[in-house]
Amino acid sequence: MSCIISQTKSTLPKLFLAPMQGLIDAPMRDLLTHIGGFDVCVTEFVRITHTIHGRSIWLKYMPELANNNLTQAGTAVAVQILGSDAENMALNAQKVVELGATHIDLNFGCPAPTVNQHQGGAVLLQYPDKIEQIVTKVRKSLPDKIMLSAKMRLGYENKDLALDCAQAIEQGGAEQLTVHARTKIEGYRPPAHWEWIGRINQAVCIPVIANGDVFTLADYQKIRAVSNCTDVMLGRGAIQCPDLARQIAAYNHGQVISALSWQEILPWINDFFNSCCDKAAEGSAYPVSRLKQWLGMLKLNYPEAGKLFTQMRTLTAVNQISQVLNQQLEESQNIV
Ligand SMILES: Cc1cc2nc3c(=O)[nH]c(=O)nc-3n(C[C@H](O)[C@H](O)[C@H](O)COP(=O)(O)O)c2cc1C
Repeated sequence: MSCIISQTKSTLPKLFLAPMQGLIDAPMRDLLTHIGGFDVCVTEFVRITHTIHGRSIWLKYMPELANNNLTQAGTAVAVQILGSDAENMALNAQKVVELGATHIDLNFGCPAPTVNQHQGGAVLLQYPDKIEQIVTKVRKSLPDKIMLSAKMRLGYENKDLALDCAQAIEQGGAEQLTVHARTKIEGYRPPAHWEWIGRINQAVCIPVIANGDVFTLADYQKIRAVSNCTDVMLGRGAIQCPDLARQIAAYNHGQVISALSWQEILPWINDFFNSCCDKAAEGSAYPVSRLKQWLGMLKLNYPEAGKLFTQMRTLTAVNQISQVLNQQLEESQNIV
């Protein structure tokens, strides 16, 4: 496929932080972008049904709207919307743009049964025409300066329509496409089919962002080589290894940066817990459950996180958790 000059693919590698519902919200975006390496983050999906969401809902998903669409560390944030009613998607996109958003991402990949039953997310990958209709409607409703992108899986039950869906997204006027290299029914089962991202990349002119199963710098090098994409999105890899993006960015600048030690990670864990506490209402289970959730994933890279998790397993009060964290911090400072 030959692309006109204005649509040629970028050459400077960019790193995107994946949208992850229930896992990457504002405190996690702040943490990961402070550690560094990311160029753009995407919010958890905001589900669009029959109403136009008000300011409080948009701010709940994207508090960065009140900070010029930037995380505390200054990284750009896009807002992701999910739905099947083109008109309502467009009206909601307009609403969040009125509130200051400059980049809207459309979700065509969510595998959740509730979402799919309402004809949103991955289920739409069976109907490229419908996808094109949604993208076109949203694009036409927004000023030209607003960036519109989309994120898709390779299909619903099979990959037969993968290229048609990607082309529908491009035809509709999206300027960028992220591809998670699995179908809906493949869930998160390895392997991710990176070669399919390469096929899509060849079939469209808009930049394609490669996504799926990048857990190490070696995975990053391989997904780029196989897909021939410049840009990559990190999801679970960034949660399990919070400095993965920083290591990759250093590599892209010809530098080598050593991985964060457990002692270096501990203050970040404490900061994360404190920012979850700041966000939560008094007595809310949110800070404790988010911290435990993160430790459960961190332990895949840091065995110490597993030990900390065990120490906290039965604790539910914020002050008890703070005590354990402070004790850990003191001990680790003594070791240094
Ligand atoms: C818990 C969880 C929540 C997710 N939420 C979203 C979401 O809100 N929007 C979206 O487009 N993808 C979502 N995804 C998919 C991820 O963005 C990403 O495509 C997928 O995890 C594969 O990338 P990874 O192997 O780097 O994690 C979610 C994935 C997980 C595991």
